[in-house]
Amino acid sequence: MVIIPIMFYISTKLRKNIRRSWQQVRIQQSRVNSHLNESIQGVRITQSFSQEDNNTEYFHGVNEETFQSWNVATRKSAMFRPFVEMSNAFGTIILVAYGSYLIINDPAVTLGVFISFTFFIGMFWEPISRLGQMYNQLLMAMSASERIFEFLDEQPNVKEKENAIELDDIKGHIVFDQVQFSYDEDRIALHEISLEMKPGQTVALVGHTGSGKSTIANLINRFYDPTKGAVKIDGVDLRDVKLDGLRQNISVVLQDTFIFSGTIMENIRFGRPDASDEEVIEAAKVVGADDLFKD
Ligand SMILES: Nc1ncnc2c1ncn2[C@@H]1O[C@H](COP(=O)(O)OP(=O)(O)OP(=O)(O)O)[C@@H](O)[C@H]1O
Ligand SMILES: [Mg+2]
Repeated sequence: MVIIPIMFYISTKLRKNIRRSWQQVRIQQSRVNSHLNESIQGVRITQSFSQEDNNTEYFHGVNEETFQSWNVATRKSAMFRPFVEMSNAFGTIILVAYGSYLIINDPAVTLGVFISFTFFIGMFWEPISRLGQMYNQLLMAMSASERIFEFLDEQPNVKEKENAIELDDIKGHIVFDQVQFSYDEDRIALHEISLEMKPGQTVALVGHTGSGKSTIANLINRFYDPTKGAVKIDGVDLRDVKLDGLRQNISVVLQDTFIFSGTIMENIRFGRPDASDEEVIEAAKVVGADDLFKD
């Protein structure tokens, strides 16, 4: 047991070090993954600018760094077991030295007692060595789960109030009352905008890129809350309404479209799963996409 405090001290140091290495591995791994994701999704752009070679080179770079970080982490983890084994060996040395001394000097200590202790020490270290190994796996899992929890703990920007009002049947009277909004602190996207859109009115926002047209649409959907002022529909501040009810009353055609896997039918039906086939075809007709269903 003499060895235990020393072992405890060193293993605490070692543990922090190993943990940091595994965290590094995770960071590198996510860099590889995000690069892969971008490369595959943006393959057309890469091809059209003939950047395949640069892209490949960059990939080799992050890949190599990931390999190195794995290498470091695995080496450090592999040190753990020999370290426990070595502590075991030191314990045995101490036992043999002190035991021999006692056999010679203390008549109460027989050879049998000495031998039993050599067995005890084996029984004592075996579980510790196993725990050490498990601990290693635990460290690895912890650094992975940390990243998952970081993601799970992320708070949504938009929160529904507890006593939120259900807006069932929206007339469509939209008012922006001195709305100021910024995505990040240092840049304002909308500067105190006031406007009114009446029910049944068709409104088009025209402006150059980055002037805030999509931002206005985002605020009507309450993807974000204004930093100052208020957005109101039918006289109710959007911060006071239920999100589901609000969004079910709004149809959005996004600037960048996204098609889910499945059939075209299922994709058109996405916002209203109970729509009949006829209704889906009717909707497709309205936008001139009904020849998709011709055959
Ligand atoms: N998710 C975001 N995070 C941070 N800033 C953003 C985000 N989306 C837009 N912005 C910034 O907010 C401002 C307004 O952008 P917005 O997308 O509303 O412009 P837009 O008028 O729709 O442009 P476009 O005509 O290109 O669609 C821009 O400066 C833009 O860079
Ligand atoms: Mg836009």
